[in-house]
Amino acid sequence: MAMLEVKDLAVNYGVINAVKGVSFDINEGEIVSLIGANGAGKTTILKTISGLLKPASGTITYEGHEIQKEKAPKIVAAGISQVPEGRHIFPGMSVKENLQMGAFLQSDRQAMAESFEAVYERFPILKQRLNQDAATLSGGEQQMLAMGRALMSKPKLLLLDEPSMGLAPIFINEIFEIVKAIKEQGTTVLLIEQNAKQALSIADRGYVLATGEVKMSGTGQELLANADVQKAYLGG
Ligand SMILES: Nc1ncnc2c1ncn2[C@@H]1O[C@H](COP(=O)(O)OP(=O)(O)O)[C@@H](O)[C@H]1O
Ligand SMILES: [Mg+2]
Repeated sequence: MAMLEVKDLAVNYGVINAVKGVSFDINEGEIVSLIGANGAGKTTILKTISGLLKPASGTITYEGHEIQKEKAPKIVAAGISQVPEGRHIFPGMSVKENLQMGAFLQSDRQAMAESFEAVYERFPILKQRLNQDAATLSGGEQQMLAMGRALMSKPKLLLLDEPSMGLAPIFINEIFEIVKAIKEQGTTVLLIEQNAKQALSIADRGYVLATGEVKMSGTGQELLANADVQKAYLGG
């Protein structure tokens, strides 16, 4: 059984049909990538999985339970955590306070301390900047903070919405390396990206999305080698 199964998902904004009957699944331990141009429906799918949007129809089954009617905090508690597009860190709050926000469901001090240690280990730079205002971090560091915040709840499934967006190339490489490392530590990842080449390079499987529909799917390597994918998304 897949860890997450999205079936015939449709999501509307008023009269706009943003997602039109999308199906895909994610197995435990995988990195699955959704790629597609701006406006394809990627963020809408992610927000629907995390409970911020409700679908018009279709089901989202996580660990055998339908979650498409659940509220966002319950979905976080069940082990799904998201890093939103554009990071949405809290400026005016320190790095440490931002991380604490990610652990809002944890009441156990010991578990909280363990979460902090795990995040410092993954992102040593955040430990150096703990008391700094999050707004003073570079773009790459803010992305690390957003990822660290999501990891504070010890998710089983991490949803990443365009983590490389707007970053300098050196940070982009680092972010993809970190995503790989997060997977190797046992967290399953849904990776949404416009940066198709790097996303597919680290993905076990991928789905190509256009105008709210899945157009193609395969292993990361199959999609990278596909002539249509190359033409549309890999610059030739
Ligand atoms: N809040 C919104 N209100 C109305 N339309 C929206 C809203 N958010 C997204 N859309 C539309 O839904 C479609 C899918 O958007 P989105 O999921 O953000 O795509 P992507 O993340 O792939 O760029 C687009 O046509 C977009 O214009
Ligand atoms: Mg988006």
